[in-house]
Amino acid sequence: MLKSHTCGELRLSHCGQEVNVAGWVNVRRDHGGLIFIDLRDRFGVVQVTIDSTTAPEAHRVASETRSEYVLRIHGAVQKRPAGFENDAIATGDIELVADEVEILSPSLTPPFYIREEADDTEETLRLQYRYLDLRRPNMTRNLILRHDMFRSIRNYLSERDFIEVETPHLLKSTPEGARDFVVPCRLQQGLFYALPQSPQQLKQLLMIAGLERYFQIARCFRDEDLRADRQPEFTQLDLEMSFGEPRDIQRLIEELLIQLTHDYSDKRIKEVPFPVLTYQECMTRYGIDRPDLRFDLELFEVTEALRQTEFRVFAGTIQQGGQVKGVIYPGGAALPRKEIDALTECIRPMGAKGLAWIGVEQPITCPADINEGALRSQIARFLSSAELFEIISTSGAQPGDMILLVADQPDITAASLSLLRSEIAQRAGLIDPDLFAYCWVVDFPLLELDDTTGKWSAVHHPFTSAREEDWDKLETQPENALAKAYDVVLNGWEVGGGSIRIHQQERQQRLFACLGLSEEEIKTQFGHMLRAFQFGAPPHGGIAMGLDRLVALFANSDNIRDVMAFPKTATGSDLMVEAPSPLDDDQLMELGIEIATLA
Ligand code: AMO
Ligand code: AMP
Repeated sequence: MLKSHTCGELRLSHCGQEVNVAGWVNVRRDHGGLIFIDLRDRFGVVQVTIDSTTAPEAHRVASETRSEYVLRIHGAVQKRPAGFENDAIATGDIELVADEVEILSPSLTPPFYIREEADDTEETLRLQYRYLDLRRPNMTRNLILRHDMFRSIRNYLSERDFIEVETPHLLKSTPEGARDFVVPCRLQQGLFYALPQSPQQLKQLLMIAGLERYFQIARCFRDEDLRADRQPEFTQLDLEMSFGEPRDIQRLIEELLIQLTHDYSDKRIKEVPFPVLTYQECMTRYGIDRPDLRFDLELFEVTEALRQTEFRVFAGTIQQGGQVKGVIYPGGAALPRKEIDALTECIRPMGAKGLAWIGVEQPITCPADINEGALRSQIARFLSSAELFEIISTSGAQPGDMILLVADQPDITAASLSLLRSEIAQRAGLIDPDLFAYCWVVDFPLLELDDTTGKWSAVHHPFTSAREEDWDKLETQPENALAKAYDVVLNGWEVGGGSIRIHQQERQQRLFACLGLSEEEIKTQFGHMLRAFQFGAPPHGGIAMGLDRLVALFANSDNIRDVMAFPKTATGSDLMVEAPSPLDDDQLMELGIEIATLA
């Protein structure tokens, strides 16, 4: 090794020792006869001093160096003079007095400063020069955190008899609700592989193979619209076990998450065992199936109280089968109009037509308390005292609070109010940054109706079993069949989802038929699964955890790109290598592909 020690490990106990270190010039300060270099490697930073009187040749070389040059330095570790210690770095009590400086590699001036925070560096620049971005200590730390968590996960599962099995990337369409990325096959022109959206079918086939307990840290590919928590290729902890019930899989994952939280974060878990909520309960109380439970703020409904109202906006909505639901802004009674308008704008993209507000300024214990000055509202004059009282008491608003109401169809009130709930929590400072609030969400519907095609589709994926008591409903009332599925949610992020699977050929066929697949389609797309089910398929189930999301939450990051070495932009590009890119004509010819249209 060119180095005997890392830049981060030198301490007072090394004083008097001669060492070799190597790394990058973090900062160079030239004081004429004395040059200071902060040398950085993956393990930390050490201050090097180069004195022209005692080490003239080293000083000459050091004076040629610039930021991000790679150096090897030989010298003696020395206690820093009193008053010059630096508490901010682990090596702050010592310095390295150099007698030899060697330039191993020069560097161009980097396009941005390599320092802890990215500050205002544009992300496109960071992605273009990702190798420099990853030199920033907090990015390096994220990758190390990711590695450490992955290693713990592997150990945890290996200790419990799970074996990691690799499954192929060149495969057939595996429906998970996104589009497939496809790969043309040169040896059989005109045919394509699909990259797996998850190893779902293969892990089920591994159960039929008798492995009983499988896991894989698996790369998944989904061609879908990208967001802060979505990348076209991402990593799952994929897991499957035979002969288990939902609670067995939940317990296994819950224990793993508790252990990871304990080992790799300084957050408190809000509630153990993790609370279990039904899908319906989530939608009613939070308007979303992945509620952020770090704060309370539950939604309330006042549709019934307003059924006879003379206020046209509410009455009209209710007549059309809509509802009036709301949420409280604690301490928001005096919120300036500008802020109310901003909240209104923030829910417009959800389809909301407006936001009604009622500031409670005085204690209200009966309808008679509602007099001039008790409320601050643009709609109070359209509502009776009895209606206002009902709204206030149902909401639980206290003097000083603001009630916010949305009248619309259930899907729009849900989407608007869940967004408002998070927005209020942010603005009113209701979120404890030291908290991890995990929960399980269960009893999802099995199927949902696609409004555009009029067809039923699987909410989770078509291999998920209905609850035993709901199989009867499959053909007669599919909307009421619930799935044996479960999601795990952390601070409002869906970090995992799984289910007990169908393992009987007849039931799987029934489900495909409900989805409107013809016999022929079932055979060509899923014939291999149906055939396998005929050879002794054990009851089985599993889960997949979105590891990028999990690590991002552990790293206090709000974008999974921060915990991926080489992520893609929102349009699916890698800016560093410039992918995707065109193929040349020869390659296209060889694959038997002709480009029909160019956008
Ligand atoms: P599901 O589709 O719910 O289930 O995916 C499991 C978890 O993977 C994460 N995830 C993503 N992370 C980053 N970018 C994406 N584009 C992305 N899509 C999903 C989420 C999600 O909870 N085969 C089933 C699992 C099973 O049934 O066992 C599946 O893939 O955190
Ligand atoms: P309008 O009669 O349309 O001017 O609406 C009166 C008030 O009711 C305005 O302050 C609107 O913001 C509010 N409002 C309108 N539509 C809705 C709705 N669907 N839900 C809640 N409030 C609404």
